[in-house]
Amino acid sequence: MAVTKIIRKDNLGVAIDALNNHDVVAFPTETVYGLGAKAFDKKAVKKIFKIKGRKFDNPLIVHISNLEQINLIAKDVPPIAYDIGKKFWPGPLSIVLKKSDLVSDLVTANLDTVAIRMPNNKIALKLINAVGPVAAPSANLSGKPSCVELNHILDDLTGKINYVIDGGKSKIGLESTVIDLTSNPFVLLRPGKISFEELEKFFGKGKIIKYKFENSKITIASSPGMKYKHYSPNAKVKLVKNIASFLKNNKLKNFVLISSKKYDLEKSNINFVFKSNEHLAKNIFSWFRKSDKLKKDYVFVEEINEKHLGNAILNRVKKACEKN
Ligand code: TXA
Ligand code: MG
Repeated sequence: MAVTKIIRKDNLGVAIDALNNHDVVAFPTETVYGLGAKAFDKKAVKKIFKIKGRKFDNPLIVHISNLEQINLIAKDVPPIAYDIGKKFWPGPLSIVLKKSDLVSDLVTANLDTVAIRMPNNKIALKLINAVGPVAAPSANLSGKPSCVELNHILDDLTGKINYVIDGGKSKIGLESTVIDLTSNPFVLLRPGKISFEELEKFFGKGKIIKYKFENSKITIASSPGMKYKHYSPNAKVKLVKNIASFLKNNKLKNFVLISSKKYDLEKSNINFVFKSNEHLAKNIFSWFRKSDKLKKDYVFVEEINEKHLGNAILNRVKKACEKN
């Protein structure tokens, strides 16, 4: 079993050496922590799937540190990809393009496309600058909520990886927005901090649509990751519209309530209160994970407005509800 070592941000040489030696390293980004390997190192990329327990049909995102690297990873790159890069990168947006021959089928799960993003985190950018493009999924065990702080990595991956870089708490707390640029109109595959509204403003109305399972033109094959259960605590998760009447009508015990207001609850229950959607996004995976640590039976989440960041938050909460 590996002894998992914590690397401080002023000691990145150790992480760089590890990546250059076919190893994987958990590292911070502004969205969530990633579990990275050099993107062109098949041996190391394979380790990622094994460690996470990730299915081989779920592709990874390739992380870059400058726009020129797009050409290494992708081919037939449309000019709009560079415009997007200039506008949104480094930042929480991944774009799907036609893959180049350099990228292995392992990274892309046999798709002919590849997801690319430039993370907005100094540590991540330094690593990529030193070793080249890094393939990385979120660093959690498959099915678990993503890791947004060092302790989450240690909970999931202690003994399974050699190195994690301590980058403190993730600024955003939800995974990047993913858009497919190989289809017409473009498709929002996964909502994130960069919202559909913002993208629609950038591309123009009708130029980008939201992915819908029932939309016959878009098959599940275009984003295999979406069919998997995600982000789930062990507890049963439920969205609640009217908390006050819900609490009055349901005499449940041993639950976590995530709400915008504080409620007076019995001792066996816990109330996490969010001040804004940004605050909720940043903390929701931590609160899911806390509910597991405390062995709670239910997590009730106040239903928020589905616009902007609310769309991304509700997407994750609804996925967490699905397993029940
Ligand atoms: O913020 C993030 O995106 C984080 C950090 C570490 O960058 N990464 C992340 O990776 O969330 P992961 O593997 O947990 O989620 C990647 C998502 C999956 O839903 C996957 O199916 C989709 O991106 N994806 C990757 N390559 C794709 C492709 N070629 N076509 C369509 N979807 C793709
Ligand atoms: Mg993930």
